[in-house]
Amino acid sequence: MFSMKKTIGCLVTTVGLSMFTTGAYAHCGETALAGNMNDLKTDLKSLSFDLRSDDAAAAGERVDDIIAVLREARGQTPYLFKEKGLKGDELEKRLTQFQSVIDETIDVFVAVDAAIAEGNMSEAKTLLREAGNMRKKGHRSFKADC
Ligand code: HEM
Repeated sequence: MFSMKKTIGCLVTTVGLSMFTTGAYAHCGETALAGNMNDLKTDLKSLSFDLRSDDAAAAGERVDDIIAVLREARGQTPYLFKEKGLKGDELEKRLTQFQSVIDETIDVFVAVDAAIAEGNMSEAKTLLREAGNMRKKGHRSFKADC
């Protein structure tokens, strides 16, 4: 009977502790970065609608929004780095890599913006495929599997 109590006590402590440790950070999908990413997804859907509708003015504004969201995302820390408990030099190194992929993505959208300004919608659409590749690259390297 005593040992049963002890086992239950241990279980409660373990569950309590694990809730405490995971609670130290926002959960996967609840981070500021996840919020930026969801905004990006919505903006991209709208952008592809603007391009299909040949609405250059709306498309241009949409790309400006996307670039602003990416600049905000650049200042965030991926959940994966927190999950792995990265600190100090290792954290700095991984953050620099993350920021550089975000920068490459921003460059693609700056090129999309220029193509739209020139009225070259087909070039804009081609560049958007490149942005899709940046998304894959970013998620492969920095997105936690959750
Ligand atoms: C360009 C188009 C992109 C789109 C549409 C996009 C979309 C998304 C979406 C929908 C999520 C899931 C958010 C949630 O859990 O609710 C996400 C997560 C994430 N994305 Fe992106 N993404 C893009 C590019 C990138 C790039 C370039 C990077 C990195 C350089 C990146 C890094 C991440 C990370 C790290 C997460 C996990 C969130 C976190 O760690 O807090 N994404 N993305």
